[in-house]
Amino acid sequence: MQISVLTESDQAETRVAITPDVAKKIIVKGVDVVIQSGCGEKSNYTDQQYEAVGAKVTRTINESVLKSDILITVKRPEDKILQKFNKNTLIIGQMDPYGSSSELNSIAKFGHQLFSMELMPRITRAQSMDVLSSQSNLAGYKAIIDSVAEYKKAIPMMMTAAGTIAPAKIFIMGVGVAGLQAIATARRLGGIVTATDVRPATKEQVVSLGAKFIAIQDEEFKSAETSAGYAKEMSKEYQEKQAELISEHIKNQDIVITTALIPGRKAPILITKKMIGSMKNGSVIVDLATERGGNVEMSQVGKKFIHDGITILGYENFARRLPTDASNLYAQNILKFLDEIIDYDNQQISINYEDEIVKGILISKNGSLVHPMYQ
Ligand code: NAI
Repeated sequence: MQISVLTESDQAETRVAITPDVAKKIIVKGVDVVIQSGCGEKSNYTDQQYEAVGAKVTRTINESVLKSDILITVKRPEDKILQKFNKNTLIIGQMDPYGSSSELNSIAKFGHQLFSMELMPRITRAQSMDVLSSQSNLAGYKAIIDSVAEYKKAIPMMMTAAGTIAPAKIFIMGVGVAGLQAIATARRLGGIVTATDVRPATKEQVVSLGAKFIAIQDEEFKSAETSAGYAKEMSKEYQEKQAELISEHIKNQDIVITTALIPGRKAPILITKKMIGSMKNGSVIVDLATERGGNVEMSQVGKKFIHDGITILGYENFARRLPTDASNLYAQNILKFLDEIIDYDNQQISINYEDEIVKGILISKNGSLVHPMYQ
């Protein structure tokens, strides 16, 4: 059996799908690992480190790579690369399943089995394979670090002989995995932290991290969480009440991090241009949702810009900005999934297509899209 890892097609991608440490764990189980030379470079993993654990390093995508049983990726590779792989190869990575059905439909025709890690069910057994969580956690941390680097004042309260520095007020919007880590990081730095979400379960989590919860807590709020643990899209009336509350609160905030997402939909706009206009000069906003449409009316994908003295960071994918750790956690998630589908004793792929995890993330097989999302 052979697993291959290529340099990511997207030039902006800094992560690699398998680290030397994880490659070692796979090789020990008798599976060959082939990596494309330089694939780990942007995450600080060298060819020599892969070679040292027994991986084969190849410069080109040659015959030996193409006969792999499994291709592991961070993002979906280009069609021209995918189509070279044998029919039935397992392609495991983040396939961007929402809103890409026509692209995925053409890829499905190549006959591979495509697994989209973003669709991992949120069940206890799958926690160690949850790439959204592993990456969002780092994104939440990095959003605070980047915002603090832009902010021209200190975060904690400092009482000095020369005078007192007031602590920074930090507001986190959306308290999922990224939001929780942002709250924890902001608290560690000594900020005065408030947070909001539409799911009632988050209230207790916010308070337990030492932050204050603010939200419109009406009847709709009480049922805003889906059975999968995600937020529902809120009604227009709720959004209006929420906007009013935020307008008042945001005026006094120094740093605002937005992380609100709704699976399969455009991210909700939580901060309008008018709200930005009411903020204090020197404040910083970080929008973690730009790739999904953005939570901030003026944020731009992949960009930093200053509007009326307010710095707005809309970088794509904050986890990518910590590629060594992000690759490490991603690769660990992948390893756990490989353990589910490889029979190491008999050195063969052994997939239970009735398994909840497999059913949750398998998007194409035998030339067509099979995930219920596309039926
Ligand atoms: P997400 O990335 O989909 O969304 C981020 C946050 O934005 C969520 O908390 C959501 O409620 C919030 N949000 C959506 N619309 C909003 C609005 N209009 N205003 C304010 N906030 C809004 O969420 P994520 O990080 O994927 O987490 C979702 C849930 O799944 C959490 O409860 C998390 O603890 C849970 N989870 C469970 C796992 C498991 O059991 N395996 C693994 C990871 C997360």
